[in-house]
Amino acid sequence: MNFEFPKGFLWGTATAAHQVEGNNINSDVWVLEHVRKSPYVEPSGDACDHYHRYRADIALLAELGFNAYRFSIEWARIEPEEGEFSLAALEHYRDMLRACHEHHITPIVTFHHFTSPRWLMATGGWANRRTPDKFARYCERATQYLGDLIGAACTINEANIASLLVNLGFAPSLKKLHKAAWWSAAAETFGTSPKRLAPFLYSVSSKGIDTILRAHRQAIEAIKSASGNFPVGITLALQDIQSVQGAEKVAARMRKEINDIYLESLQGDDFVGVQTYSRSRFGRKGLLPPEEGVELTQMGYEFWPEALEATIRYAIDKTGLPLVVTENGIGTADDTRRIEYIRRALKGVSSCLNDGLDVRGYTYWSAFDNFEWSLGYRPTFGLIAVDRETQQRTVKPSARLLGEIARANSIEQP
Ligand code: BGC
Repeated sequence: MNFEFPKGFLWGTATAAHQVEGNNINSDVWVLEHVRKSPYVEPSGDACDHYHRYRADIALLAELGFNAYRFSIEWARIEPEEGEFSLAALEHYRDMLRACHEHHITPIVTFHHFTSPRWLMATGGWANRRTPDKFARYCERATQYLGDLIGAACTINEANIASLLVNLGFAPSLKKLHKAAWWSAAAETFGTSPKRLAPFLYSVSSKGIDTILRAHRQAIEAIKSASGNFPVGITLALQDIQSVQGAEKVAARMRKEINDIYLESLQGDDFVGVQTYSRSRFGRKGLLPPEEGVELTQMGYEFWPEALEATIRYAIDKTGLPLVVTENGIGTADDTRRIEYIRRALKGVSSCLNDGLDVRGYTYWSAFDNFEWSLGYRPTFGLIAVDRETQQRTVKPSARLLGEIARANSIEQP
């Protein structure tokens, strides 16, 4: 028995500018990578040199069978100094969009994927009430230049990431950060104080959350007013939050803090982008480690592809919006486990569709093995391996499998 996906279903892969382009030297994260005692295990350097190799890369994705490509455009390149816009950078992204269309690929563009221009940090970053105006102005300029070629857009990638990282123990609290030597060194480099420094990935204060949500709303308005004639939404990092040992109250509080305050503020959006990797289990005393003996991914969390079905149902229940799976994937050195992960995750997507839920697409994270933020190049999420010395691309069997599924627009049901 085969399960047929709806006609026009978007099948793609996802990347983010900083993680694949290389030499994003005007961004805040580049600075964070290089400060004294940086927690980044290595700098991003040339990354996958996608900034120069995008035409061959997009052709490869099309050849594999994909009909969509989700990538981000880089604010730090488009507006390298406040109010100064680079036509050359905009033209670069215009050519990426052109390349997508030449290969019948729908481009899904993210306006902000974790990195911001360095100058934004000097002016209070993601905890300053004027940042939404600045972000909206950049979105408007970019839409004026690129809008006619954009297929769909995400304003902000994982608006809730800082809250998720802190609550799930992947990042220190703000209090601890403010005392760290590397944080002070970074603040000094940006020309601000440790307490005022607010890069996106660490904006977990209530001011930060409010700034990010307002930036999203203003960006949508700016994109629409610049005649952006395509669906616009946001993406959220949604873990499947489960309760064990009667800890429903603790889990509910976590869901509220990490997911619901964001999901409940999306009325009027065209879709919601869901990004899911695993589940988190909460007991009465808080977050529980994965159970003894369960399979872990390179990221240290549980191999749990079923999380995707749960978060799709959850997000649609909370928002009533059409949904695109904008990220889902696994960091593993064993590609057979990636194949298993993809198969099981897609089974979950098909079961949601069977129940009549409005899921419009699936973009696997990631197209390439790339720069996994503070963990550097060790975790390998890619369908395509990249040799760091030669930049040679090697297609993994999982890429062929997902490409074939995309071409067939169906999966085999056991
Ligand atoms: C982010 C990506 C990241 C991926 C894998 C998501 O949180 O959007 O940038 O590489 O997860 O950890």
